[in-house]
Amino acid sequence: MKPENPFLTTGYYSPEYFCDRESETRQLLNYLVNGQNVTLTSVRRMGKTGLIKHLFYQLPANWKGIYVDILSTETMSQFLDAFATAVIQSMPEKETLGQKLWNFIKSMRPVISFDSLTYLPQASFELRAKEAENHINSILQFLEKQDFKVVVAIDEFQQITKYPEKNADAWLRSVIQQMNNVKFIFSGSQQHVINDLFNSPSRPFYRSTVMQSIGKIDQGNYFQFILKWFIFGGKKISDSIIDEMLTWANMHTFYVQLICNRVYSCGVQEITGEVWREEAYKLLKELEVVFYNYRNMLTGPQWNLLRAIAIERVVYSPTSKDFIAKHSLGSPSTVLRSLKALLDREMIYSSFTDEGVIYYSMYDVLFQRWSESR
Ligand SMILES: Nc1ncnc2c1ncn2[C@@H]1O[C@H](COP(=O)(O)OP(=O)(O)OP(=O)(O)O)[C@@H](O)[C@H]1O
Ligand SMILES: [Mg+2]
Repeated sequence: MKPENPFLTTGYYSPEYFCDRESETRQLLNYLVNGQNVTLTSVRRMGKTGLIKHLFYQLPANWKGIYVDILSTETMSQFLDAFATAVIQSMPEKETLGQKLWNFIKSMRPVISFDSLTYLPQASFELRAKEAENHINSILQFLEKQDFKVVVAIDEFQQITKYPEKNADAWLRSVIQQMNNVKFIFSGSQQHVINDLFNSPSRPFYRSTVMQSIGKIDQGNYFQFILKWFIFGGKKISDSIIDEMLTWANMHTFYVQLICNRVYSCGVQEITGEVWREEAYKLLKELEVVFYNYRNMLTGPQWNLLRAIAIERVVYSPTSKDFIAKHSLGSPSTVLRSLKALLDREMIYSSFTDEGVIYYSMYDVLFQRWSESR
């Protein structure tokens, strides 16, 4: 069933509803086809998961994609459940290939149930860590022996650092290294955790993958995508309004989708400046509870720093006299402590300018807008 609203704010539907990412998709495919495993990162909600799903749509005929989201897993055994579930969901039991695979998974004696909403199959084992590892290994070995190639995309990969099994990444690394027909994408939103996992010499995954990070979608292409869908929906919208929306959402994929989704479905055929601004205002109003909740989650100094960063948009030296004085942030050491806490909680992120200068900014464009408007 086609989406009612062409601007998706969750999930992936089909290439039609996906804007651009052509060079990113090509690059990713190129790495995999050439035998490399890839670590895919970006700030939150920029479009990593979408890109993986999009790539799966474009895989060559002899490739299969298996997508595993491990965010909700807390142990190796749950990893196995998520992985086995992803494997059986990737191939219907009635297909010849699927049958072989299902038989293999079934021989490991999981409980197979069907989700009450989606009716998709779920596998569950409930094993101890060592057995779970063996099972994961067997499934991978089984995939390795097939006459097709496989991409296993493990999303929210940083989650394995939270497993009680301390050597989870070392173990996985050793298994993955033996694979030729199975390639991996490790994707994650917690940029610093992913960086630690893959780029720190003391960690097993050190330099074992190529790093691919994605940024904003090309503005011209996003513009055309938005225009196309508004016209297709029989709506009138001017170029400058599209530009205003893109700027308001700071070209951040999720927020662009969100505002376009609202404006598209607001019931008005002719989109004027007032129409879209009203929708933007309503969005912020709806989220106000969430924003106030941030304040309850944070200490006073953390909240003040967060607001200061939101208002400044980009902060180069958070401990500078000017910045501290302007926002009454106390001492530099307080600011440093708060900065670390906000980074750990992923309320802000740090990155580098083209000149190599570090800066701090916020993920949440809507919080930023809301803070500015107070
Ligand atoms: N190229 C695109 N064109 C249109 N919509 C997109 C595109 N990429 C992502 N989206 C949409 O933007 C939203 C955020 O994308 P996605 O979930 O892929 O981001 P993410 O980087 O995986 O986020 P997180 O860090 O939270 O996991 C989703 O609703 C998705 O449908
Ligand atoms: Mg994601």
